[in-house]
Amino acid sequence: MCGIVGYVGGQNALDVVIAGLKRLEYRGYDSAGVAVLADGGLASAKKAGKLANLEKELAERPLPSGTTGIGHTRWATHGGPTDANAHPHLDNAGRVAVVHNGIIENFAALRAELAERGHALTSETDTEVVAHLLAETYSSAGDLAEAMRQVCRRLEGAFTLVAVSADAPDVVVAARRNSPLVVGVGDGEAFLASDVAAFIAYTREAIELGQDQVVELRREGVTVTDFHGAPGTFREYHVDWDASAAEKGGYDYFMLKEIAEQPKAVADTLLGRIDGSGRLTLDEVRIEQSALREIDKIVIVACGTAFHAGMIAKYAIEHWTRVPCEVELASEFRYRDPILDQRSLVVAISQSGETMDTLMALRHAREQGSKVLAICNTNGSTIPRESDAVLYTHAGPEVAVASTKAFLTQLVACYLVALYLGQVRGTKWGDEIYTVIRELSDISKQVDQVLETMEPVRELARSLKDKDTVLFLGRHVGYPVALEGALKLKELAYMHAEGFAAGELKHGPIALIEEDLPVVVVVPSPRGRSVLHDKIVSNIQEIRARGARTIVIAEEGDEAVVPYADHLIRIPATPTLLQPLVATVPLQVFACELATARGNEVDQPRNLAKSVTVE
Ligand code: F6R
Repeated sequence: MCGIVGYVGGQNALDVVIAGLKRLEYRGYDSAGVAVLADGGLASAKKAGKLANLEKELAERPLPSGTTGIGHTRWATHGGPTDANAHPHLDNAGRVAVVHNGIIENFAALRAELAERGHALTSETDTEVVAHLLAETYSSAGDLAEAMRQVCRRLEGAFTLVAVSADAPDVVVAARRNSPLVVGVGDGEAFLASDVAAFIAYTREAIELGQDQVVELRREGVTVTDFHGAPGTFREYHVDWDASAAEKGGYDYFMLKEIAEQPKAVADTLLGRIDGSGRLTLDEVRIEQSALREIDKIVIVACGTAFHAGMIAKYAIEHWTRVPCEVELASEFRYRDPILDQRSLVVAISQSGETMDTLMALRHAREQGSKVLAICNTNGSTIPRESDAVLYTHAGPEVAVASTKAFLTQLVACYLVALYLGQVRGTKWGDEIYTVIRELSDISKQVDQVLETMEPVRELARSLKDKDTVLFLGRHVGYPVALEGALKLKELAYMHAEGFAAGELKHGPIALIEEDLPVVVVVPSPRGRSVLHDKIVSNIQEIRARGARTIVIAEEGDEAVVPYADHLIRIPATPTLLQPLVATVPLQVFACELATARGNEVDQPRNLAKSVTVE
């Protein structure tokens, strides 16, 4: 939430900052602003609305050019999306500018204190107090980084702060607590951003900062300390994808590109994790195998789409490991008294690695002695850093707000964890485990096959553009798929969409069925656990008898559904537990096309932002 960029070097700072903000706009798009140091002063501009509004403003009223600057794209927390509330915020003298991501929880007390000392604050934000405190502290400390340290010691809450001062040319300082910030190190230049995507076009050398650190950027290099001035420890790393991965590559939307990238993302997430003899080699999971054998309970914590991946993981884990597994929304878990100990394994799933609720849930688990395994897509992010072990998904950067390829790779990682635990613990499903590992290693071709047959799905979506409601039904692992289909439709098409466990229909939701109501049904394979299949075929008949328009997603060769499907979407045959990898794809395409047909912004749906770093 909120994208932040900082730059010092030899280039025109405004160009670098605006280019960076374009890559971070997925994090928030309520307003945007920039500040540059130029001609011995500080010049800034900010505008409500998307970055394009700010660019228009800058074209009409250009800022003087300088080589040090900061920028921000906002997802509003305190105060609406107005010009006045947009960042950067300046002190009264206009000498210090600050941008911020997060929430300063004690801002009201600080604001009152500043007002008493004669400061005039003009916005409704929590951020503005920092600009005033920093300017005041800088005048006594005489050093911007030291002033930032002193200010941070007074702040409560979560924050990434980036600041410049007209009195400190060629310097940018920043601080972080529970909020993302990475440093990019170039030749004679340095960058700061919420995400490496902002500077990947200039450098692939990055620094992962620790918690409660202040960083000072100069052309000559970077200095990291803690909030008390002691040298800070950090990790340097090389980003293994390039700028083209964070561009649309000829697609109209990032989401379309990311849907299309799924076969590769799935294959990349499996790469190097299955050895020549068909066994899993997850050496990167740095939890001793003896400890994995001792585990007597698994708890998965996640939010949104990642939570749906966790729901599917529960079926796989309990089946292949026979270890009880719970899945919980991170936002609920963190305020509960969960029963955990050293023999519990907590799995935290997060694409961004920065979701505040998931981070707090994992801390809550570790406080009780549990080991935490993160499944994460973002190298250098906080959740893997604070976990005992991490299994990275290799989806590459996901820019569209609605998660697609990250979800599929989370599923792959969850299957890997379940199968690996089964392999290590030697359950009675040994033979099945090795068969499934083989099938999993082939699954990306089936995802590809689904993508090649999506035109009828798009056509169907367009024909439903004036509907108000779409329902989704599933059983077993098809139930979380139904929830995911509904979530995608809500967030992209702004339609009323709900997912149900098909068995629950008769306990209430069937009352919603009326003439021509579209109901998407995810049908389990008729092979394997065919009882599930037969039950859902009955459910389809029940809703059709009440007038529903049935949209049936079923395996190739499943003829039993044909008489009851008003629209039939075919997916390749897979083992039951792996079906979500192919069944989710048509639902993503469906939601994306409906959103487009309704004239919605696919990559940046209203009110949302990627990476939810506030509670
Ligand atoms: C929905 C979506 C969100 C995220 C959720 C968790 O399309 O993207 O529901 O899945 O905010 O985000 P991460 O995985 O970054 O923790």
